[in-house]
Amino acid sequence: MNIQIYIRPLKLSDADISYKWRNDPEVWLYTEYVITTPISPEIEKNWLSEKLKLSNEKRFAICLSETNEYIGNIQIIGINNGSADFHLFIGEKKFWGKGIGYQASLLILKYAFFDLMLKNVFLEVHAENVAGFSIYKKVGFTKVSRHGNFIKMVVHSSALKIN
Ligand SMILES: CC(C)(COP(=O)(O)OP(=O)(O)OC[C@H]1O[C@@H](n2cnc3c(N)ncnc32)[C@H](O)[C@@H]1OP(=O)(O)O)[C@@H](O)C(=O)NCCC(=O)NCCS
Repeated sequence: MNIQIYIRPLKLSDADISYKWRNDPEVWLYTEYVITTPISPEIEKNWLSEKLKLSNEKRFAICLSETNEYIGNIQIIGINNGSADFHLFIGEKKFWGKGIGYQASLLILKYAFFDLMLKNVFLEVHAENVAGFSIYKKVGFTKVSRHGNFIKMVVHSSALKIN
C-alpha cells in the first residue's frame, strides 16, 4: 500500500531539518544544485526566511500523514503570467522509491492549476534521473528541449493526468 503523504507550506523551523539534506551530495546528484560550502542550520534559516517573503514562490513541505514527519520539499517558483517552474526533492532517502514523489507532484500541480489557475508548469530534469523523469511523464509533462544533460519539460493545465 502507498505511504500516505500531504503537503503544507514550508515554515522557518523546517530549516532545522532541511539543512542536513543540503549537505548530502546524493540528494543533489541529478540536480543543478552544487554543494560548495557546508550549510549550517543558520545559513539554511536565513536563506529560507528570504525565500518565504517572495510572493511569486509557493514552497511546500512533504510530510508523512501517519507521523507528520517532514521528509522533503516541493515548490513552484518564478510564478509569472500564468507560468511557473517546478522543483522536487525527498531529503530522507529511505523514502525514495515508494511513490511519494509521484503523489506530491500531483498534489502541487492540482494546486497550481486549480487554485492558482496557472496555465503551464515547467521543469528541468537530468537525463539520467530515471525516477524523476518517470514521475513527470506519468503526471503529463512532455519534453520541450534538451540542453546538455538536462531536459526541459512542460505540462499544460489541460494535460495533467490525475490518474
Ligand atoms: C527523484 C525523486 C523525487 C523521485 O521520487 P520517488 O518518490 O523516489 O519516486 P517514486 O517512488 O514516486 O517513483 C516514480 C517512478 O520512478 C521509478 N523509480 C523510483 N526510484 C527509481 C530508481 N532508483 N531507478 C529507476 N526507477 C526508479 C518508480 O518505479 C516509479 O516508476 P513507475 O511510475 O513507472 O512505477 C527522489 O528520488 C528524489 O528526491 N531524488 C533526489 C532529488 C531529485 O533528483 N529531484 C528531482 C530533480 S528533477
